[in-house]
Amino acid sequence: MFNKQTLRDFDLKGKKVLLRVDFNVPLNSNLQITNDKRIRETLPTLNYLIEQGAKIIIVSHLGRPEGKVKPEFSLKPVAERLRELLKRPVILTGDVAGPETFKFVRAMKDGDIVMMENVRFDPGEEENDTEFAKKLASLADIYCNDAFGTMHRAHASTTKVAEFLPSCAGLLVEKELEVLGSALENPKRPFVVIVGGAKVKDKIGLISRLIEVADVVMIGGAMAYTFLRAQGNNVGKSIVEKDKLQLARLLIEKAEKQNVKFVLPVDHVVTGEFNFSAESVITSTKKFPRTGIGMDIGPKTIKLFTHYISRAKTIFWNGPLGVSEFQKFAKGTNEVAMAIANSKAYTIVGGGDSAKSIEQLNLQNKINHVSTGGGAALKLIEGVPLPGLQAISEKL
Ligand code: 3PG
Repeated sequence: MFNKQTLRDFDLKGKKVLLRVDFNVPLNSNLQITNDKRIRETLPTLNYLIEQGAKIIIVSHLGRPEGKVKPEFSLKPVAERLRELLKRPVILTGDVAGPETFKFVRAMKDGDIVMMENVRFDPGEEENDTEFAKKLASLADIYCNDAFGTMHRAHASTTKVAEFLPSCAGLLVEKELEVLGSALENPKRPFVVIVGGAKVKDKIGLISRLIEVADVVMIGGAMAYTFLRAQGNNVGKSIVEKDKLQLARLLIEKAEKQNVKFVLPVDHVVTGEFNFSAESVITSTKKFPRTGIGMDIGPKTIKLFTHYISRAKTIFWNGPLGVSEFQKFAKGTNEVAMAIANSKAYTIVGGGDSAKSIEQLNLQNKINHVSTGGGAALKLIEGVPLPGLQAISEKL
């Protein structure tokens, strides 16, 4: 149950709303946006504020400029894209809650949108500085946090500012919390989980929590080799986190105790070197070559994973199943993505690289929920408190 105040709890007519969003979108070397999902997903909140006659002051970060003004991290391309999507003017000020921002805010009419420059240009943002937060707050009447992707950061514009203004969650935050929260509270079964990615260390909390709620947990990506090694298998020269072997064993034991099927790859695409075009062979786990490096899950594993996917009623997926940034080793990730998209289950993809694969394959309309959060989505599922969420007032 979502128990925070939302935009709908406020009379917004004529009110200045400081809207924190996560427009931290990927840019190419020409500073063009390569994926605008995070901007598109904020449109319901923006349109609602416009309809209600609010004055919208947008705050976002982009990249990690480390408290300095760096032109390559300017929100210019974002403001431009937002103008196109909303088909209305969006003023981008040249400073961060500085004189220019105040000047434009003073002149705002109902429904106007002013966006200040990258909030991380000011060192006060990441320092969660009180004075900087007060300055942000002094621009507005209400604070709304719709930056789901940044909810796990305790920064001035995501937490501290809420101490100085009435606060609420935006519609995207509400949606993300409802979907990711309810999936874990009361999933339709079988609940099948697929976790990939490079390192066990980044996903310990996630896997441990998912074992408590899922029926089947399938592991792919480089981290599978730490689990396979922990079971005593030879994995050649594949990356193994030696200091996490004991933990991997404990997770496997936990799954056994909870009667959860813990599925590891049974075959692999193996190369002699870590290279995008390296020659590869398919080998079973049992016959893993001594000098081989596992680059992707093999065909039998794809079949095994898709078998469980086809029987699932709820599916959660996070993390690539091979070195998917190399086309040659993206087959496992892509086939599993397609199987998820074609399943009749309620499907959730947990942000980051898996969300990128879904968009690249143009499958986004066949997935029930693709989260805009990377780290934030994982933390939420792990059950780690999100500072951005804690800062928002509870419903009265
Ligand atoms: C993200 O992309 O995960 C968020 O925008 C947070 O960015 P950060 O990891 O630089 O804090």
